[in-house]
Amino acid sequence: MIAYFSVPEDVDTTGVDAVASASIVVSEGEKLGNTQYVAELIQDSIGGDLFRIETVAPYPLDHEPLVDQASEEKAEAVRPELSTQVEDFEQYDIILLGYPNWWADLPMPVYSFLESYDFSSKTIIPFITHGGSRASRTVETIAELQPDASVYDNALVLSRNDVASSTDDVTAWITNIFADS
Ligand SMILES: Cc1cc2nc3c(=O)[nH]c(=O)nc-3n(C[C@H](O)[C@H](O)[C@H](O)COP(=O)(O)O)c2cc1C
Repeated sequence: MIAYFSVPEDVDTTGVDAVASASIVVSEGEKLGNTQYVAELIQDSIGGDLFRIETVAPYPLDHEPLVDQASEEKAEAVRPELSTQVEDFEQYDIILLGYPNWWADLPMPVYSFLESYDFSSKTIIPFITHGGSRASRTVETIAELQPDASVYDNALVLSRNDVASSTDDVTAWITNIFADS
């Protein structure tokens, strides 16, 4: 399963075609969040079920309010209620987990997600998009939240500036993981 959290910010895409502004990717006329775009590339490459982590209360799509809300939620360790649930979670042995770096941390909905299921004896493979801080400590945090899972430490870490041109890197990364196993 490829689970991801992503917030495509509301930027003006007039005249933008199949390239990224910093916060979204426009693919075939559709606006996708950066992490969402990478999740879809992974699915194109290896198949699997795509699962979007969504919250009951939607996030603001404008940058400033989004950043402010995320900051407050982190300060208060909020666990936003999720509006999507994985059906038959037990069937998955490997969970690819994609998210943006938010304030040098996992977005709070990803905490909600990780605390909602039992990942014991499952493998979590993180993929992260960021604006310069790379993964921060997020991969370690996943391992702390799910100590009985095996967390793949060679996570895919992509700058938002590279997401739109990352197809080859994403494909090479994912193919290599499954070639090893
Ligand atoms: C609320 C918020 C906080 C962010 N904090 C960081 C940060 O601490 N470090 C960083 O490198 N990028 C940060 N970014 C940039 C995002 O990680 C980057 O734009 C990411 O690709 C967004 O992915 P998405 O389009 O899938 O949501 C932040 C973005 C937002 C919206």
